[in-house]
Amino acid sequence: MSIYSLENQRVVIVGGSSGIGLATARQAVELGASVVLAGRSLEKLEHAKREIGPAHADIFPLNNRDEEQLQDFFEHVGSFEHLFTPGASYVRGPITSSAEVAHSCFDAKFWPQYNSVKYAAPFIKPTGSIVLMSGAFGQRPPADGASYAACNGAIESLGKALAVELAPVRVNVISPGTIRTSFNWEGAEQEVREQSYEEYARVNLTGRVGTADEAAHTVIYLMTNTYTTGSTLFPDGGYILR
Ligand SMILES: NC(=O)c1ccc[n+]([C@@H]2O[C@H](COP(=O)([O-])OP(=O)(O)OC[C@H]3O[C@@H](n4cnc5c(N)ncnc54)[C@H](OP(=O)(O)O)[C@@H]3O)[C@@H](O)[C@H]2O)c1
Repeated sequence: MSIYSLENQRVVIVGGSSGIGLATARQAVELGASVVLAGRSLEKLEHAKREIGPAHADIFPLNNRDEEQLQDFFEHVGSFEHLFTPGASYVRGPITSSAEVAHSCFDAKFWPQYNSVKYAAPFIKPTGSIVLMSGAFGQRPPADGASYAACNGAIESLGKALAVELAPVRVNVISPGTIRTSFNWEGAEQEVREQSYEEYARVNLTGRVGTADEAAHTVIYLMTNTYTTGSTLFPDGGYILR
């Protein structure tokens, strides 16, 4: 069997109905997996299921900020091989921001991933893996996102700690640069997003924004490479080095 295979494996993606999560689901199914997709909007999940092929995807609406919903979800799913947790929506702002903005990334991105692993861990097979979602702004922060950068740093440390605690289950982190998806910082206008894409293209080595498939490819690598654990990978077009 090819080492680059997910044949007969189950992949659970919390935040799998669009963007990097959905692209990962598509690639996992191409490699032989079945997927379980969770997200808040049933409509988006149904659309994703149709796109992937109904025979290969189960869907489950949930808000990952709610611990009870996460617990119920993983009990319902049962045993599986790989977990990926990109589901998040938040805002960022400078140090003078309100507490709500300052806490936003930890509330929406750190604790939901921490709690997902907490309730998923009993159901992940020893040969399986977890991929957490961070972001390259943690390594090279913008001027308006101290708590956002700190949150990504915390997620990268969490990945290492969980790799130690949950071994032999492998735990890794993907820390992408800017990727063109529907991710919209909770309501940023399309024009603002386009400006930020152009700016990002100027400050990395490839001169462009990444695609969801390029980020998903990194996640699939982390799921399938059986000797990689405790690592963070940066599909960021060289943003950190520029
Ligand atoms: N795109 C980028 O440039 C970029 C760069 C670095 C890191 N990231 C990270 O990548 C992750 C996903 O981004 P994306 O670009 O793929 O965005 P996206 O297309 O908006 O996908 C987000 C996914 O998460 C789900 N989700 C959002 N809030 C949720 C919640 N409270 N509970 C459960 N599911 C939730 C969404 O579905 P519902 O809305 O229906 O819940 C959707 O399936 C985020 O953590 C982001 O920080 C993105």
